[in-house]
Amino acid sequence: MNTFEFIIVEPAYQQHIALVRLNRPDALNALNLQLMGELRDALKELDDMDEVRVIVLTGNEKAFAAGADIKQMADKSAIDMLKIDQFSTWDGIKRTKKPIIAAVSGFALGGGCELAMTCDMIVASETAKFGQPEIKIGVMPGAGGTQRLSRAVGKALAMEMILTGNFINAEKAMAAGLINRIAPVELYLDEAMKLATEIAVQSPLATQMAKEAVLKSYELGLQEGLYFERKNYYLLFAGQDQKEGMSAFIEKRKPDFKGN
Ligand code: CAA
Repeated sequence: MNTFEFIIVEPAYQQHIALVRLNRPDALNALNLQLMGELRDALKELDDMDEVRVIVLTGNEKAFAAGADIKQMADKSAIDMLKIDQFSTWDGIKRTKKPIIAAVSGFALGGGCELAMTCDMIVASETAKFGQPEIKIGVMPGAGGTQRLSRAVGKALAMEMILTGNFINAEKAMAAGLINRIAPVELYLDEAMKLATEIAVQSPLATQMAKEAVLKSYELGLQEGLYFERKNYYLLFAGQDQKEGMSAFIEKRKPDFKGN
């Protein structure tokens, strides 16, 4: 595994679960270009490691991430932004095949909220604050916020958050359907690990194919999505995990999935 400056990666944090920590605490984990490049590279490495089945992405108690690095882009022109194309790095993150759980405490703002939403599930501490405050600095979300937030919480709340820049707390995020679980601040990472463990015991092939199919619901119409899902379902019958899972059910024992 590579070593990185702005993230800490523990591929074997728990059995089959890798932990990635954003680690720029002085800047509330603001997502500069280097950090995002490191994150993309780390996720690619973890995706290629057979023993890793689920990835948990976290920050620290005060901040998951307070957004893209404002200081790094403040003086850029539109042409600079096009050339740097900072969000192309995010496409690599989106391509991760394994399930990613964001464990969020404190600020998840702008790009930080978008990064959490790019993950597959979100576990939050009671102190978490979600927001898209780009409007307050004269811009708008650029890494998926207008699309993913609207789909997660509906038009009314997304429009309000994006046009006012106001934050919502964990309770409201839960009620709106943005997050999966809330835990006290000292337990939110444990809670994310519990959820990760529930997924890590499943067939890794089936979880990856199921994740892929759920994400297609964002991109395809219903009929195409149903065909995509069906193809992945049939394909799973090529693997040993399907045989193991179904035999275990019939033999009344727990399955032991190997990811083959
Ligand atoms: N970029 C760069 N630096 C940031 C940052 C960011 N997004 N957020 C915080 N920091 C830095 C601060 O500048 C400060 O650095 P110094 O100590 O060198 O001054 C340090 O982190 C601590 O921040 P504060 O002193 O501001 O901490 P606070 O507790 O008073 O306030 C906060 C916390 C409300 C989150 C405030 O920092 C804030 O409003 N941050 C910016 C949030 C934001 O606008 N995010 C959107 C960015 S644009 C974007 O993300 C575009 C996109 O779609 C991808």
